Amino acid sequence: MESDAIDLCASGDLVDSALAVPFDVVYQGQTCRAFAIRYQGQVHAYLNRCSHVPMEMDYQPDRFFDLTGHWLICSTHGAMYQPQTGACQGGPCRGGLVKIAVDESQGVVRWHTAHNLKPVEY
Ligand code: FES
Repeated sequence: MESDAIDLCASGDLVDSALAVPFDVVYQGQTCRAFAIRYQGQVHAYLNRCSHVPMEMDYQPDRFFDLTGHWLICSTHGAMYQPQTGACQGGPCRGGLVKIAVDESQGVVRWHTAHNLKPVEY
């Protein structure tokens, strides 16, 4: 199935290890929150859903990085994930985050739809 690229934000909106840019997706038929971050220059995006308990991870809106700026952390029970892959790094996570394909060109960040990942229709 074809993948569409959907404009998400300007490149400058994503600063290394800083606040995320949130967006909504339909994942497996359900509307879910998602977020994009920048880490070591690269943009990554994930479903905002912890693998421990399927709930949103940011207690303070769009804040996913821990104090070191090297891990994404769930504010509920402290599960830690690698920013590059979403893999579980510590804490009570059960598996990793659901990764969303993104790319960046000419100052724009876009996310890519997939068979189980669609834009929200308003
Ligand atoms: S819900 Fe994320 S660590 Fe428990």
